Amino acid sequence: MQIQDILFSQGFGTRRICAGLIQQGFVAVGHEIIAEPAMEFIAEGLRFSVQGVEWPYVEKAYLMLHKPAGHECSQKPGMYPSIYTLLPAPIRQRGGGAAAGVQAVGRLDQDTTGLLLLSDDGKFIHRMSSPRHHVPKVYEVTAKHPVDDAQIQKLLKGVVLDDDPKPVRAAACRQTGASQLSLTLTEGKYHQVKRMLAAVGNRVEEVGGLHRSQIGALVLPGDLLPGQWRWLSTDDLQAIAATPAAV
Ligand code: URA
Repeated sequence: MQIQDILFSQGFGTRRICAGLIQQGFVAVGHEIIAEPAMEFIAEGLRFSVQGVEWPYVEKAYLMLHKPAGHECSQKPGMYPSIYTLLPAPIRQRGGGAAAGVQAVGRLDQDTTGLLLLSDDGKFIHRMSSPRHHVPKVYEVTAKHPVDDAQIQKLLKGVVLDDDPKPVRAAACRQTGASQLSLTLTEGKYHQVKRMLAAVGNRVEEVGGLHRSQIGALVLPGDLLPGQWRWLSTDDLQAIAATPAAV
């Protein structure tokens, strides 16, 4: 594949812009500057750099973001900055066109922090967000009021939310502090944790009350700080599909 097409496929702009980056000497493979836009490379497994920043060639992009508070998971946010502003431009522009770039797999509320997956693989996004697949997600909850055993039993047995007569239940619920819970859900209904806590007579604390720590068996890495992102490895992708031992 020509290096200009590789850059184009990875979100570095139109073919003309990509050819320009190459002709200006901004693109290297290994330590060698590539000045010829039509030079051929095997794309699979290629690592290249643009203006000193190294990139892997990826046919489809799979990443995790440590979502910070005060960001909306929308491309067109209303009140707060979008999580997409936390990603480098090529990742936001992959594929070109109107529906370009990676998309979040489901959404977290603006005040929720933690593990968020993003991809430009439509099938992956669909599989991960489909209610039929029941991928367990673990939320660390700080409640406004102390948690008691009756609340935990109700969350495990199932509570009825206002938009559906069918009860929703936590797949697992463990008390981790006087007002803290680790709650595992296998659906992704709108404001589900907040509404479930309200349904048992408690409330999620407004500031720092909700954090997603795990999806499937993939745990948010301790060294991935709020606002940082990283590529998912093959092991991470397998972990997402695996059910955590706790469920
Ligand atoms: N449940 C909520 O209430 N909010 C989130 O952001 C995620 C799950």
